Amino acid sequence: MPQASTKPTASSRDIGMDLGTANTLVYARGHGIVLNEPSVVAVRAGTVTAVAVGAEAKETIGRTPGSITAIRPLKDGVICDYEAAEEMIRHFVRKAVPGRRARSRTRMVICVPSGVTPVERRAIVQASTRAGARAVHLIEEPMAAAIGAGLPVDEPRGSMVVDIGGGTCEVAVISLGGIVTSRSLRVGGDRMDTAITDHVRKEHGLLIGERTAEDVKVAIGSAWPVPDRPELENRSFTVRGRERVGGMPQTLQLTSADVRAALDEPVQAIIAAVRATLEECPPELSGDVMEHGIVLTGGGALLPGLDLRIASATGIPVFVADDPLDCVVLGTGKCVENMDSLF
Ligand SMILES: Nc1ncnc2c1ncn2[C@@H]1O[C@H](COP(=O)(O)OP(=O)(O)OP(=O)(O)O)[C@@H](O)[C@H]1O
Ligand SMILES: [Mg+2]
Repeated sequence: MPQASTKPTASSRDIGMDLGTANTLVYARGHGIVLNEPSVVAVRAGTVTAVAVGAEAKETIGRTPGSITAIRPLKDGVICDYEAAEEMIRHFVRKAVPGRRARSRTRMVICVPSGVTPVERRAIVQASTRAGARAVHLIEEPMAAAIGAGLPVDEPRGSMVVDIGGGTCEVAVISLGGIVTSRSLRVGGDRMDTAITDHVRKEHGLLIGERTAEDVKVAIGSAWPVPDRPELENRSFTVRGRERVGGMPQTLQLTSADVRAALDEPVQAIIAAVRATLEECPPELSGDVMEHGIVLTGGGALLPGLDLRIASATGIPVFVADDPLDCVVLGTGKCVENMDSLF
C-alpha cells in the first residue's frame, strides 16, 4: 500500500480526495496517500475562521467552550455546512500540495455518494474550486471503493461492493467499468453511534455523547457471533454520562450484548439494501456475485461479524477488503494516476 510519507513535489499537484463524512483522505499523484484526518473543523463562534482542522479539531468535539464550535461539514455523505467544508478542503489541499505555484495548478478527483442530487454535486465542485482547485472531476464512491478493493471492475463480470462509511452505505453491482445497479442509504457509522446513544438513554436512563458512543462501538461492538473469536461475546465497557432524570454524572458498564441489540436496526437496514440491490440485478450478474462473493469496504466493514451476518442473510460469501478505510481513496488515486484522460 502506498505510504503517507515523502514530501509531495510539483508532480503531485494532482490529487484525489475521499471527502468522507467521518474521514478525509488525500492521494497525491506519484506519492500515494499523503493525508488522513477526521472531517472536522473547529471555528470561533460567529465567524468562519478555523481555529483547528482535522485530528486536532476532532479532539474538541463535545468539549468546546461557548466561543468555539466543532463542526462536521458533511452529513450523510454530502456537504451540510458549505463554508466549513470549503475551509476544511482548503486546509487539506494546502497540507497535501505545499507550494503556492503547484497549488494554483491543482487538479482534483473527488468521490461522491452515488445517490447525490445535482445540487449536492455542484456544492462539492464549488467548494473545491473556491478552496483552490483549478479543475475538479467527480467519481462515484462505490466505483472508487471497488477499484480500491481490487475488484475486476472492467471485466464483463458482476462484482458487488458494499461501502459502509460514517454517513452512508453504498451498495453497487459493477460490470464492464460501470455501475449496473446501486443503492445509497443514509445509514452508516454515525447511525450506529446514534443507535447506541438512544439505547443507553432508553434502557439505562443515561445520556452519553456521540464520541463516547463511537468509542463503545469500536471497543465492543459486533453484529453477529464470530466463531473464531468467542472472546468478543463477553466484553464490557464503562461509559460516563449524565442521568436523564436528576442530571448527575454517572458511570455504567455496557456489555457486548447491549451493543449488539442497539446496532440491530442499522445492521438490518444495510442487509435490506443489499437484498434489494441483488433483487434488481440482472440474473447473469447476480450469478457472478453468488459465485465470487460480496466485498465490504469503509470503516463500517470493521464491525466484527457484519460480514457473517450479511452472508447468513443472503446466502452469499462476504469478504472484508484489505485496509477497508483506504479503499475509496486508493480507487480515487488510480483515477488520479490516469487523470490526463479525464480533463
Ligand atoms: N472497528 C470499527 N468497528 C465499527 N465501526 C468502525 C470501526 N472503525 C471505524 N469505524 C467507523 O467507520 C466510520 C468511518 O468510516 P469511513 O472513513 O469509511 O467513513 P467516511 O468515508 O468518512 O464516510 P462516508 O463515506 O459515509 O462519507 C465511522 O463511523 C467509524 O466509527
Ligand atoms: Mg467513504
